[in-house]
Amino acid sequence: MKIDGRHYRTIWLDEDGATVRVIDQTKLPFRFETCALASLEAAARAISDMVVRGAPLIGVTGAYGLALAARLDASDAALRRAHATLLATRPTAINLKWALDRVLAKLLSAPVGDRADLAFTEAGVLADEDAACCEAIGENGLKLIEEAASKKGGRVNILTHCNAGWLATVDWGTAIAPIYKAARAGVDVHVWVDETRPRNQGASLTAFELGAENIPHTVIVDNAGGHLMQHGEVDLCIVGSDRTTRRGDVCNKIGTYLKALAAHDNGVPFYVALPASTLDWRLRDGVKEIPIEERSGDEVSFTNGLTESGEVARVRVTPPGSAAKNFGFDVTPARYVSALVTERGVCAASEAGLRKLFPEEAQL
Ligand code: MRU
Repeated sequence: MKIDGRHYRTIWLDEDGATVRVIDQTKLPFRFETCALASLEAAARAISDMVVRGAPLIGVTGAYGLALAARLDASDAALRRAHATLLATRPTAINLKWALDRVLAKLLSAPVGDRADLAFTEAGVLADEDAACCEAIGENGLKLIEEAASKKGGRVNILTHCNAGWLATVDWGTAIAPIYKAARAGVDVHVWVDETRPRNQGASLTAFELGAENIPHTVIVDNAGGHLMQHGEVDLCIVGSDRTTRRGDVCNKIGTYLKALAAHDNGVPFYVALPASTLDWRLRDGVKEIPIEERSGDEVSFTNGLTESGEVARVRVTPPGSAAKNFGFDVTPARYVSALVTERGVCAASEAGLRKLFPEEAQL
């Protein structure tokens, strides 16, 4: 997608073909900076410190991390160690494991001398595939927005949580891809952007993305969605996912579940957009089985912002001494999800629905 009229992906190889470069998302929306990832350790740090974040982008960064490791030592033991290091960075988004397993399997079956080049090629393939999947999600979700527009006969108000736009993927995004497609198709859309405490991915990233594409949007505090839904101000909700079980339970940024409950109570469709790399076919009950990341309480106790003099500052928002607990994600049971929007089409959030779209995976 575009920043100041220039097309960017979130991760790419510089012209030297050897430097992995990413957008530093910890600096947005106040500064647009990129940074080079020169080693396995740098890739792992970028994921755990959320320089890059969003399930699909974490996966592709992991793949490049393995490639950076292979450049130094492509032995089986070194690659397995690199896989373990990268996998330990963030526990919830399954895309990371999916990407690491896929690249590692490919490398282990190749001669040691070919592995580094092969790893970079494979990471590039993953990146291209992710962009293509997300664009297809956009096309499939567009139909839902068009339906809502023709049913309503006016502006479609869409609520989203966290950042599931192009910054969370390689390009296009998951939940926001249909919104980009709708805007380009001339559908009148307006987006309610949940700020998404504690790290404000909505206020900082989703609002930044939508602004860069001139899409009308309004940032709201996390607790406003239910009120808006009660007053007919939300036509549909669409969010992303970090892991979805074979039964269609959806794990996403903390607070998603409460939006789904409010949507259910108010008869507002609640859609979840995800690529197949987010499906965890091994799991059934998301509430019981999906590991929920807990991050430092400091992310709750402090927040970043721009001072009136234009400096980016970190300020405390809680009394010193108050404990803070920071759950990264929650699980929305499938019964509250109106439909899943994938690269292969739209389906019911159920094992039968997913099986129809992904018959080969469902054998597992
Ligand atoms: O903690 P983050 O910023 O990595 O969380 C991101 C989300 O929860 C997104 O909604 C999710 O990755 C799905 S969208 C690509």
